Amino acid sequence: MTDTDEASADLAAAARAVRENAYVPYSHFKVGAALRTASGAIHVGCNVENVAYPEGTCAEAGAIAAMVAAGETEITEAYVIADSPHPVPPCGGCRQKLMEFARGGTPVTLATVDGAEQRVTVADLLPGAFDKSHMDRA
Ligand code: THU
Repeated sequence: MTDTDEASADLAAAARAVRENAYVPYSHFKVGAALRTASGAIHVGCNVENVAYPEGTCAEAGAIAAMVAAGETEITEAYVIADSPHPVPPCGGCRQKLMEFARGGTPVTLATVDGAEQRVTVADLLPGAFDKSHMDRA
């Protein structure tokens, strides 16, 4: 957990390490994601592609699945890294997935393998998010 302007080194290292395991025979674009949870634990994921392209999964989705499988549901910090010219942003679907388990103010660090980082929040990534309050009349 952090309320500083920098991602914690262990979270960054975990995302960088898991990225190496990405299964990307089609895009050749490896992504790593690491999530800190309320307990302080780190859960990681990498993208896993499939010959049926839409069946591939993003690094963030893998990390979220690992987190939930471990019994945790509260993200306090996220880190995403790729070999990208600019810090890599989560795709639209993953922004919604992160919002499910985070707060608007939860910090997300977008990173490149070269060391560039951009620090944003989940609300920055998904302004006007659909949430359960919108179903209050259901
Ligand atoms: N990808 C991720 O894993 N996370 C992102 O934030 C952006 C995109 C993956 C999906 C696919 O395997 C590859 O990057 C190219 O889109």
